[in-house]
Amino acid sequence: MEKIIIDCDPGIDDSLAIMLALSSPEVEVIGITIVAGNSPSELGFMNAKRVLKFLGRLDIPVYVGADRPRVRNYVNALDTHGEDGLGESFLPEVPDQAIPKESAVEFMKKSLRGGDVSVIALGPLTNLAELIDSDIDSFLSIKRLVSMGGNFRSHGNCSPVAEYNYWEDPDSAKVVFDAMYEAGREIEMVGLDVTRKIVLTPENLDDMKRENPVVGDFVERITKFYFKFHWEWEHIRGCVINDPLAVAQFIKPTILSGIEAFTEVDTLGISMGQTVVDSMGFYRKHSNALVYTTVDEKAFWDLFLPRILGIKGERNE
Ligand code: RIB
Ligand code: CA
Repeated sequence: MEKIIIDCDPGIDDSLAIMLALSSPEVEVIGITIVAGNSPSELGFMNAKRVLKFLGRLDIPVYVGADRPRVRNYVNALDTHGEDGLGESFLPEVPDQAIPKESAVEFMKKSLRGGDVSVIALGPLTNLAELIDSDIDSFLSIKRLVSMGGNFRSHGNCSPVAEYNYWEDPDSAKVVFDAMYEAGREIEMVGLDVTRKIVLTPENLDDMKRENPVVGDFVERITKFYFKFHWEWEHIRGCVINDPLAVAQFIKPTILSGIEAFTEVDTLGISMGQTVVDSMGFYRKHSNALVYTTVDEKAFWDLFLPRILGIKGERNE
């Protein structure tokens, strides 16, 4: 069983990723750390608690990290995730869930030093950049670093060339990719090139509601807003669920394949947040990123659906 920390910004697809991780025997979620992204960090904390309550897993500790990007002004994604950050499902607050005094970075520092814990980052990389600032050795003790973010040949979703997690905090993303370069390590980049292929469809939802009405109802409640957003903006029937693919790849590393390349994140101007992937070796620099470019969609759904449908779940009033 691999120990993981999920660093996220719940967020609809973050929530589905947490559901997948906590229904997968291969991983032990030792903690969830929240970063400002889709939702402001305190809302992200409460949304993580809402998902954990549904799963009957309020035993999993949740820590709050950065409430804004490293340099830029904070830009949320509530236009995509709804005003409650959870698809306007307006699930009840989970009572008696105080934000711990221990910060996300303090928890990471304490947990990572043993070298047996991986991080799956599903939001902006602000917490990880802060960890690099305060304790590079803990950061470099991360066993595997898998990040949902960036894009190679696929167009951006926040600008022609930038994906939200790295666009919202390009400076932190650059710090992380640069630190991996200096250390001769590779971040696993699960970008839009592969996540765009993972679309939860109305048919998937119908199957879920038939097979497991409690889970189907929960997933419908948190994704209906996302479905509407995808239809209005991209005429997609369904919704792209980016984050669960990062968890699935961690669990089953054959779902994705890609290229190893030197990659740097642009931090200024029109291409801010773009991941510049040197696939041709122009810069003659060693690889710091495993950039995923192809996905076995069937393998993803064969892993995701049975596990999500196996969740008991707490019926919502
Ligand atoms: O660009 C998609 C990513 O940004 C996903 O992780 C989504 O949850 C948002 O954080
Ligand atoms: Ca996310």
